[in-house]
Amino acid sequence: MKVLVTYNMFRDGYSELISKYDVTFPAEGKESFTYEEVLEVIHEYDVLQSMYNFPVTAELLDKGVNLKIVSNYAAGFENIDVDYATKKGIVITNTPDPVTEPTADMAMGLMLSVMRRIADCDRRLRTKDLEWGLLNNLGYSLWGKTLGIYGMGRIGQALARRAKAAGMKVVYNNRRPLDPKIESLYDARFVSFEELIKTSDVISLNAPNTPDTYHIINKETIKLMKPTASIINTARGPLIDESALAEALRNREIYGAGLDVFEGGHKVSEELLDLDNVVLTPHTGTQTYDVRNEMAAFASQNIINFFEGGKICRVN
Ligand code: GLV
Repeated sequence: MKVLVTYNMFRDGYSELISKYDVTFPAEGKESFTYEEVLEVIHEYDVLQSMYNFPVTAELLDKGVNLKIVSNYAAGFENIDVDYATKKGIVITNTPDPVTEPTADMAMGLMLSVMRRIADCDRRLRTKDLEWGLLNNLGYSLWGKTLGIYGMGRIGQALARRAKAAGMKVVYNNRRPLDPKIESLYDARFVSFEELIKTSDVISLNAPNTPDTYHIINKETIKLMKPTASIINTARGPLIDESALAEALRNREIYGAGLDVFEGGHKVSEELLDLDNVVLTPHTGTQTYDVRNEMAAFASQNIINFFEGGKICRVN
């Protein structure tokens, strides 16, 4: 079985896959195969193991005449033309399990950093542009505040658990309410999107990038937020109209934002870079030594189990 891995990831998580199949990675020193390179060689492979931002298009799926499975190294899979793959009988899998806890850590970290101004103070201390004093550098406590979680899937729930431990009240909006037994684990209450936006002190986006969630945070919805509220995005950039958010932050219409993902992918809008009330991280929600290997092992297991039998995490 021939497997093409698009990214030069650590090998530890791939050890079982490598021991069983003929696995190709980009050459040493090269970060990733380009789309064009994969297009050229994909006809030779039974399996493509793609990364979250590698486009798996209809064109590529057509060229992959031997492709049986695309194993995506990510929870999200909007980089893949899933409908077309389904039509061609190609199975698509993803890696939600190892992504859950680290992404919730990141949302919690951004929330702390924004509300307690950790990154802002660090930056200004270093540049000597900071006034000490009891009434300077004021932020907001988490304890007693309301966290509104938009998208109460695995990551949303992992964040709710952390928020509850920090003494926050949790409200959420989701396609449908959770089972009351699950809600009671976090003392979480289902509310409409409008109520969530209007009543939350922090809003965390934890929903996938779909036509329904596109620009769910925009000029109008931002206007409904409390002026003291913050917004955290560890999901996908297109959920926020970034220029409307930058304008609201610049005009201090809301308190702050913590963003791990951006509308332009790896390109952060210039308008955000100048603002001190936003914390920016480069899509590092799953960027830990542990999780890199855990995701590789999970993506590998999806492939091995597909051929040898066993549970796979399929999206089509
Ligand atoms: C990361 O962003 C993922 O979708 O796993």
